[in-house]
Parts: sequence; C-alpha cells; structure tokens
Amino acid sequence: MHTLLLSAQDPETPARAAELIRQGELVAIPTETVYGLGANGLDETAVAKIFEAKGRPQDNPLILHICGPEQIELFCHHIPQTAYQLAEAFWPGPLTMVLPARSNVPRRTTGGLDTVAVRCPDSDVTRKIIRLSGVPIAAPSANLSGKPSTTTAEHVLHDHDGKIAAIVDGGHCRVGVESTIVDLTEERPRLLRPGGITPEQLTAVLGDLVVDKAVTAQIDKDAVVKAPGMKYRHYAPSEPVVIVSGSREKAAEYIRRHFVPGDRVLCFQEELPLYEGCNPLSYGQEADVNTLSAGLFAALRELDDPSIHQVYARCPVGDGIAYAVQNRLKKAAAFHIVDAEAEV
Ligand code: TXA
Ligand code: MG
Repeated sequence: MHTLLLSAQDPETPARAAELIRQGELVAIPTETVYGLGANGLDETAVAKIFEAKGRPQDNPLILHICGPEQIELFCHHIPQTAYQLAEAFWPGPLTMVLPARSNVPRRTTGGLDTVAVRCPDSDVTRKIIRLSGVPIAAPSANLSGKPSTTTAEHVLHDHDGKIAAIVDGGHCRVGVESTIVDLTEERPRLLRPGGITPEQLTAVLGDLVVDKAVTAQIDKDAVVKAPGMKYRHYAPSEPVVIVSGSREKAAEYIRRHFVPGDRVLCFQEELPLYEGCNPLSYGQEADVNTLSAGLFAALRELDDPSIHQVYARCPVGDGIAYAVQNRLKKAAAFHIVDAEAEV
C-alpha cells in the first residue's frame, strides 16, 4: 500500500481524509498532543486494523475523537454534569473523559469494557475530518505499541510507511504528551493519566480528584486496572533508561562517574555543558517545561537505537505539565530512579 502524505494546509485534505475513514482505512491525524492512528470508531473491521498496525494488545481500549460536547451523548449514557463542566472548561483540548458506553460503540473499540473514552482534539483540520466523515474517529497514539509516541508526521511515516492509507501532516504537536484521562464512571473522579490539563486545573472544576495508582507506580502486567494501557511498558527506547534525580551538579557527578562508552545522557539544554564527552541529548529547557513536554518523545525516539547501552535521564520536578513529563519518563525508565544526592 502506498501511504499518502496529505498537508493540513491543503483545502482538499479534510474531504480526502474523511473519505478514507468512511472507506474503513487507517489515517494518521494530527492533534495538539500527539499524532493519532485514526479509523472509523464504529466499524469493527476498521478498528481491528488499528490493533494490527500498532501491534496493540486487544484489551487496550481506544479513545473516540469527537467534534464537541454535543456528541458525547451519541456514544455515552449516564453522563454526569461534571462531564459537561469539564468539556466547557477544556475542550477542544488535551482532556479525555471515560464514561459509560452506549451499545453502538463496538466492544472492539473499548477493549471489551462497558465504558468508553471520549475527547475533542484542538486541531481544526482533525475536527473537520471527524465532522466530514460523519463518525467518531478511534485513535490511539500512532506509535508502534510500547514505543515512544509520534509528535511529527515523519515519526508516523517511520512507524507505518506502506501500512496505512494516509498521514495528515499538521507539523509538530504543540503539547507533545498525550491527553489527560479522567474517569467519571465512579463516585469520585479519578485521574488515569496526567497530561496537558493538569490535576490542579481538574480539581478547580471538579473540587475533587483521586489519582489512580497506575499514575505513580509500575503496575504488574496481570493486574486488573482502570486504564488497561497503563500496565504495559510504555514510551520506551530499546535500551534501559535510568532517571538520575538531584541537583544539576550532583547528577552530573553521578552520571560522569558511571558513564561508559555506548551510554547516552538525556538532559535539559541548560545542562549540556556539564556532559561534554558524554554524548548528551537535550529535550528542552528546564526553565520552560513546555519545551520539555514538546520535545520528550522526539528525543526518546532518537534514543531508540539498539547500539545504545543505557540512557541516563534528567527529569523536571514540580507540578503542572511537569507532572505529565515525569509520568512518561518514569514509565520509559520502568520507574528506575537513582537519587544522586544520596550517592557518595
Ligand atoms: O492525546 C491522546 O489522548 C492521544 C491522541 C491521539 O488523542 N491518544 C492516545 O491514545 O494517547 P492511546 O491509545 O495511546 O492511549 C489511550 C489510553 C490507554 O492507556 C487506554 O488504556 C486508555 O486511554 N483508555 C481508553 N479507553 C478507556 C476506558 N474506557 N477506560 C479506561 N481507560 C481507557
Ligand atoms: Mg499510546
């Protein structure tokens, strides 16, 4: 199959992409978070192609991408008022809500669950494609399963060239980490994945938020979890990653002491001079955490190279979007963290 590259700027792109979606094909779509691998979310055969292209476990459910809050009730029931309050505050934007699924949503899309995740992305071209296709677009992040997410059309082409019908090129993804997921099916709202909408922002609207244990610790692969995607090793380059925490100086001391040829250092731009001779790669500025979230996956993909022995990574501290960056890096490192301050 030849994979078409469609520019988001081309006025014909939305109609061409929507037609492919209606025909049951896979189309990669840009969003403000990461690129998604899209298909008609109501068509089981189309959805099956997503799982096959990604090598995704069947029990890992997909997010339905919709045009706005008015579409929630088409695919969900027993919708609490809080869902509309969150949509009002954060849509279009990087927030996904888990709600009870209507029976028109195939269980292949929901990974067998009776709940479904819905999100309205902040990308004009993608919302236009959804509207023109007339169906919700099921789209996981477009990376191969387990690998770092795709934040450019080139990343998607690298993973799926010749295997999917088209890629809509909308440039670099602004946020760079996947959407925040909040589960609204229980008595208390539960954060399943941190992202561009921060826990502080959610709490300001909801007045309450439980953080799921899958956010803060490694989950056993046989565990029963709320977000099935959280238990798999994620975002990971091929080699082991270890996070080195502590001050700039202590961390550099620790890493330089343990560094052997074949290792790499993933650090903040401000730290590059500390790692001369250690082949450092910066993913953004510590002083501007948005550059870290926007740059993280491109850097992790660059480090996905079997010739690399080990990666020492520096992780931002604090809350806000830094919390999402910490979550992705910790998962890439399988929660392997060394405190340079405690080392002598
Ligand atoms: O930003 C994003 O959310 C991107 C873009 C493309 O929209 N999509 C994305 O999809 O990150 P994916 O499939 O890589 O991650 C979706 C996560 C998985 O961890 C999955 O387990 C969880 O959402 N999820 C989906 N439906 C769910 C449900 N009904 N209940 C609990 N978790 C669900
Ligand atoms: Mg993903």
